[in-house]
Amino acid sequence: MSTNADDSTPDASAAGPGTAGESRPVGAVERSGGAEVDRPYSDYLLVADDVVAGYVPEVNILTGCSLTLNEGEVVAVIGPNGAGKSTLIKTIFGLIPVRSGELALRGTSITGMAAHELVEHGVGYVPQSQNVFPSLTIEENLEMGAFLRPEIVRDRFDMVAGLFPLLGKRRKAKANSLSGGERQMVAMGRALMMEPRVLLLDEPTAGLSPVYQDEVFQRVQEINSIGVSIIMVEQNARRCLQIADRGYVLDQGHNAYTGTGTELLRDPNVIELYLGTLAGA
Ligand SMILES: Nc1ncnc2c1ncn2[C@@H]1O[C@H](COP(=O)(O)OP(=O)(O)OP(=O)(O)O)[C@@H](O)[C@H]1O
Ligand SMILES: [Mg+2]
Repeated sequence: MSTNADDSTPDASAAGPGTAGESRPVGAVERSGGAEVDRPYSDYLLVADDVVAGYVPEVNILTGCSLTLNEGEVVAVIGPNGAGKSTLIKTIFGLIPVRSGELALRGTSITGMAAHELVEHGVGYVPQSQNVFPSLTIEENLEMGAFLRPEIVRDRFDMVAGLFPLLGKRRKAKANSLSGGERQMVAMGRALMMEPRVLLLDEPTAGLSPVYQDEVFQRVQEINSIGVSIIMVEQNARRCLQIADRGYVLDQGHNAYTGTGTELLRDPNVIELYLGTLAGA
């Protein structure tokens, strides 16, 4: 089981809700749950505020989890197996009901909104597994990504193939003939077909060779550089924090640590409790 970071945690308010932000010194990561959502929701691109959610009645997996995403950011979500990282992403994407707390996109509540509506509002999601249609070709997989707006398929396919040249070159290949890394490119490409402003990625490098892991991290940065804000769950925690503007460490369904990528990478508690055991690569 994972360590409960709260036991040794000073008062969360020590970092001060009002002082949270860019200028906190290295090492002064916030060890708090919901303290960070201290501005109006409209100040953020996306907010999850004190969210409680779960699968089975009366069993909460997320027990008051908060996260914010600003325009243009890459935000990392890391934590031990079973911490609730995928559950958080799925809850944001409307796949799991919110029991309490709020979700907001550009200041508008999206609590209770269904996944297909979120896609129309510019949110894309790449699940942790089973994220391509194996019997369809690359081209058909991408077309499925934009089935809500067939008129944009051609332009978006060209755009996605520009980002992932392999997808254009091998457009007629069936997804089940591709390697794990190639499939991941298809999954990310498909999520980009609807021109999302927010992309939710759940462990995009899991199970991939080092070469493909490099490629995924590179593509994530490219996707971000063309204006897509990204929330990325990763087992490869160090690597993810290196490219992230900010990160959240989840443990047992709630926030354990929050800070910039650099702050988290240098924080002795985070290193000892999480980075030592999480993908040292
Ligand atoms: N479909 C489900 N039904 C019931 N419980 C589930 C379901 N999916 C996940 N859980 C439980 O929710 C908890 C959090 O799981 P989740 O998949 O969110 O963790 P995670 O942080 O993404 O872990 P990992 O690093 O292994 O992907 C776990 O205890 C898990 O057993
Ligand atoms: Mg997961």
